[in-house]
Amino acid sequence: MPPKPRILVVGSTNIDFVTMVERIPACGETIISEGSYGFVPGGKGANSAVAAARLGADVILCTRTGSDTYGKSLKKLYSDEGIDTRFVIHDKQANTGLSSIIVERNGNNRITVFPGANKNLSSDDVEEAFTTYPDALLLQFEAPYEAVDAAIKLANASDVPVFVDAGPANQEININTLGKLEIFSPNEKEAFEYTGISPTNAENYIRICLDLYSRLDVKYIVLKLGEKGCYLYDGHLGEAFPSYHVNAVDTTAAGDSFTAALTYEYLRSGNIRSACMYANAVGALTVTKNGAIPSLPKEKEVIEFIKNN
Ligand code: RIB
Repeated sequence: MPPKPRILVVGSTNIDFVTMVERIPACGETIISEGSYGFVPGGKGANSAVAAARLGADVILCTRTGSDTYGKSLKKLYSDEGIDTRFVIHDKQANTGLSSIIVERNGNNRITVFPGANKNLSSDDVEEAFTTYPDALLLQFEAPYEAVDAAIKLANASDVPVFVDAGPANQEININTLGKLEIFSPNEKEAFEYTGISPTNAENYIRICLDLYSRLDVKYIVLKLGEKGCYLYDGHLGEAFPSYHVNAVDTTAAGDSFTAALTYEYLRSGNIRSACMYANAVGALTVTKNGAIPSLPKEKEVIEFIKNN
């Protein structure tokens, strides 16, 4: 694999409406907040694309935004990050996707996504993006099944390894029928949604992995366990990789940057264990800052962080 792998990200683009609150209001309750709010670039696909680009990958992003002001400024932002934006399509029929995100004091978030133009990402869009001959495909499930399915089929047909961030748990997508994958990575919530097993202890981690492994054609499963780090299953053994202790202010996009880093480091080194440790560092750094794309670390910061921790 070349030192600077070319990663095609097929996925969503959103503008995040973020409210930082003391606590979630109860039903029927109104809270006057002393927190803050803002509009921040996000979307699982775009977050992963920018994360990989900031770490040093060559990134091609295939996504749809509205032809509105948000869509135009997001495309410019990706291009400023060095991303190939030829397949960022401005859709005339729909608005840019919007996520409403509530972040509590402890950094935990609750997200509602209004997909907008993301709903129109098609197999034709994906087919065009594959003309760039990527080294790897990185996907999430915030895109329509048609696009996810086409992307995996095209990648499989040309032996391009497929990396799946299994979030959000999407009813439209049947994980049992996905094609050949290199890595499948759900977070705790998604692992539970797919298997009905709560990732509460090591015994359950392995039960989740065995369940997923029996249903997927996959080489590695990597469970994202938040502040606990991650758990790798390689088809024989399971291994936990504890994370770094940091002061979490906002967990938004930590999963996206984790999977992007996992993909990038695995492609670069060919070593899944060092990829898990590197991804832990990137995920940990992401939670120390507010917002999705604004919180994604650059390669230099990650090197420094690993050296000092
Ligand atoms: O994973 C975080 C992302 O999920 C946010 O940026 C939001 O847009 C939703 O897609």
